[in-house]
Parts: sequence; C-alpha cells; structure tokens
Amino acid sequence: MRLHVVDHPLVAHKLTTLRDQRTDSATFRRLADELVTLLAYEATRDVRTEIVDVDTPVARTTGVKLARPRPLVVPILRAGLGMLDGMVRLLPTAEVGFLGMIRNEETLEASTYATRMPEDLSGRQVYVLDPMLATGGTLVAAIRELIRRGADDVTAVVLLAAPEGVEVMERELAGTPVTVVTAAVDDHLNEHGYIIPGLGDAGDRLYG
Ligand code: PRP
Repeated sequence: MRLHVVDHPLVAHKLTTLRDQRTDSATFRRLADELVTLLAYEATRDVRTEIVDVDTPVARTTGVKLARPRPLVVPILRAGLGMLDGMVRLLPTAEVGFLGMIRNEETLEASTYATRMPEDLSGRQVYVLDPMLATGGTLVAAIRELIRRGADDVTAVVLLAAPEGVEVMERELAGTPVTVVTAAVDDHLNEHGYIIPGLGDAGDRLYG
C-alpha cells in the first residue's frame, strides 16, 4: 500500500476550516467538496490514458484521453456521498458504484448494508471515497470487496486519516495495488474510535 499525504497550502487551509467546530453544515459541505477536488487532482495522477489524434483548427496533433474501461468511483455511504461531486467534477466520464457501510460504535466493526456496483471489475481502476480513515475497518472491507471483484488498481481518497488506521491498512492490504490519498494523518484515535484532533463525525457534520 502507498500513502500520499497531499502537502498544499489550499488543502491545509480548507482542512483547518473543516476542523473548526463553528463551521456550519452548509459551509462544511462546500469545503469538503472543494477539498476533494484538490485531492482528486493528486489521486488521478496515475489514471490510465491512451494516445489519440486530435484536429485543432489548424493542424493535426496527438493528445491523451482517459482509457477504457472507464474508471469506477465508489463513495462509501453515508459520508462518502459528500465527496462524490468533487471527484466526478474531475472524472466526469467515470462510472459510479455505491457501497453502504456502517461502523458499530461499540465494537468499531464495519458492516455492509448496501452494494450497487458491477460484479466484474477486472482491469478497472477504482477510486473509493470516504472522509475518515479511523480504525481502517471500513476501508479494508471495502477494498477487499473491490479486489475480490477483480479491481487491479484501487485508490482511496480520504479527507483525514489516523495513524492506527494507516497501519491496519498497510498490514491487511500488504502486497495489494492500493494507494491512500489524504489531506493529513492526525495524531491518534481515542477510545471511541474518533480521530484526534480530527474534525468530529464527518457524516453528522455533512448530513446530521
Ligand atoms: C464513518 C466514516 C467511515 C468510518 C471510518 O462512517 O465515514 O466510513 O466511520 O471508521 P473506521 O476506519 O474505524 O472503519 P460511519 O460508520 O459513521 O457511517 P456514516 O458515513 O453513515 O456516518
């Protein structure tokens, strides 16, 4: 697994406002959307392309277009939905699948309550969206399912990660073609599985 922490002043600025408890839901949604687009720019650095001919008004040249099969974008409901628009703004031709997952707040174990995506993901590049990588349980389960379906290149775009979750991903997904792109890796997880200092519960701040 590869970890990419995006080091950019605009990313840091938006993340700081997301962390602020005084930021209201409407502003939180807008900033999360903007932040995802910045992370998406980095996350798609290795998106597959093909060479094509293009006729400008004055000459023929070559350029690049996104290769087929189209990439798949998978937001993890509920909170990942707040990242979908920001991602598909950069990848408008991507197909979109959905995974509904919930973490039990007592045991911190993740379970899946909804799945809607192609059964066969052979040869597909997949971008998974989830604002928080806390214990890592949710993303590990999601990515295992994508790889089981044949995905051969998975990039998780997360707003914020905990070092404990990154470690779990590195251990559980060792040797798999997985990249995590995030705005920051925070200090630690508390006993309730919250990222510290974090930004609170992303799902509640987006939709609560
Ligand atoms: C949160 C968050 C992640 C998950 C992270 O979702 O959006 O999906 O927890 O935790 P983990 O890394 O410890 O598994 P939650 O279960 O609160 O669902 P929601 O998105 O519907 O709010």
